[in-house]
Formats: sequence, C-alpha cells, structure tokens
Amino acid sequence: MSVAPRSISGKVTVPGILSRKSASPHDAAGPDSKIACLTAYDYPTARLLDEAGVDILLVGDSVGMAVLGYDTTIPVTLDDMLHHLRAVRRAVRRALLVADMPYGSYHVSIEDALCNALLLVKDGGAEAVKLEGGERRMELMARLVEADIPVMGHVGLTPQSVHALGGFQMQGKSEDASRRIERDAYAIEAAGAFAVVLESIPRELAADITRKLRIPTIGIGAGPDCDGQVLVFHDFAGLTLGHRPKFARPYANLSAEISRAAAEYCKDVREGRFPSDEESYHARGVANGDLPARSTR
Ligand code: KIV
Repeated sequence: MSVAPRSISGKVTVPGILSRKSASPHDAAGPDSKIACLTAYDYPTARLLDEAGVDILLVGDSVGMAVLGYDTTIPVTLDDMLHHLRAVRRAVRRALLVADMPYGSYHVSIEDALCNALLLVKDGGAEAVKLEGGERRMELMARLVEADIPVMGHVGLTPQSVHALGGFQMQGKSEDASRRIERDAYAIEAAGAFAVVLESIPRELAADITRKLRIPTIGIGAGPDCDGQVLVFHDFAGLTLGHRPKFARPYANLSAEISRAAAEYCKDVREGRFPSDEESYHARGVANGDLPARSTR
C-alpha cells in the first residue's frame, strides 16, 4: 500500500524560495516576489502567521532571548529547539519551516553537526536548517546539502558570536569588514545554501551582496534592498520588553494590550465582576439569572 503525501495548495518550498530571487534590488519581479519571514516558537502564533501568508517561519534560537529570558542565544540547547520546533511543526501547513542550529550543535565536528541537523529534520519536522558563519562553515554546509538538508546561511551580526564580536552591534563598518562579510556570503552560496540572512549591516553592503548573489538574501537590519525580510516575532508584535533595535518595526503593541487586559481582569476579579452569571454553569432546572438560594445555616 502506498500513501501519497497530501499536497497543500500554495506550499512554500525551497525551489519556490530560490525562484523568488529578484532581478535587481530595485526591480523586484512582482508584488509577491519579496520573501516575508518571521520567527515563531509556539503553536498558536505559528498557526496565525502561517494562515496570514508568511512565507518562511523560522524557529530561531532567538527563542532564548524572546521567550526564555536569556541575555544571549548562547545557552539555547538542541532540546530547547526541538521542543519549540515540534509545536510550530504541528501548526504550519503552507510556510517553509526553517530551524536554527543552536550554539554548540555544529561546533564540535561535522559528523556531530550532521546528526544534530538530522534530528531537527526527522524529529522536529524542519524543512531546512539555518546556521551562522560563512567561509569557516562552508564544508559543513556542503555536507548538509549533500545529505539533502536545505541550508540557510547567516552573516553580518551573528548573535552566537556575541562574545567574540563584543556585543550586538552593526557589522561591516570598515572596508575590510565589508569585504569579509561579502566573502562569507559568497562561500554560503558556493556551499549550496538556498538563502542567506544578512543581519545588521549597512544598507549599501546588503544591496551590493543582494545584487551579486544568485540566492535570495533575507535582511534583518540590512535595509530594504534584500530579496526578503525577517523579524523576530516579539519585536514585530510589540512584545519586546527590553531594547528594540531601530530596524525592528512593531506592527502591533501587544505588550500594552496584555498589560491593559491583565489589569482589567484583576480589577474585575477583585470587584466581583468576573465571572458573570452568563459565564457560569448552572445546576439542572436553574435558569441563568436565578441565583441559588443562600444556605440558612
Ligand atoms: O534566531 C533568530 O531569530 C534569527 C533571526 C533574527 C534571523 O537568527
């Protein structure tokens, strides 16, 4: 007996993402050509974002900072990633599902990294993995591609290198640093990756790299000329409690809305306005509104 996979209309695939490479940064192929990517870490959020038409959902190791309360992404483990990835997998139908390889999961050996990437794909349901670094990760990326695991690269500000970089600041400030980032992006393309994230680099450098590469660039803090954009969900939704970088435009103000709702709820509970009679179950034969007789004891 064979089981044919269900085809999902409009499913975003790796070849589909590659085909959306714009002809030039100022000449996008059409209104749908730019790639919209957001991070997601849980079932309801992923489902809403998928149904809204987001092209790529990234279970980023930013989960460490956005959800788990760490100062950096360094402590995030493969188990953390699998936990959140499985929840997102259960929600996503249309978007391409990409999972970050967390710090330490690809730094020991190529064999170890291959096993960890396979876990993200086989156990977590990722359709592609993302890892940070360019030239020095070229061999690993090529091995992953050879194992049929699509790879997304990530250069510029690579948060897993925060200690080596000395903080979360814009990269590519000098001519030398810009050329290094450009070489890293070329290396990622040459290794067979299908896309590359450009994080916190000058707009001009991102435009130049976007023009020169054959694979799509996905920008975050890299200006509007990339082939696509990505935001961390909590920045996008206005749920970031600490510093929000200037490129992270909030499309909603959920932190204010949650604070307002929580304060209203506390007041209603304390003043007896919640729950109402309509929000209560009733004993058989007692109509809504008929309050049970008080005990006389
Ligand atoms: O972890 C993450 O969310 C990321 C994006 C910011 C690209 O790497």
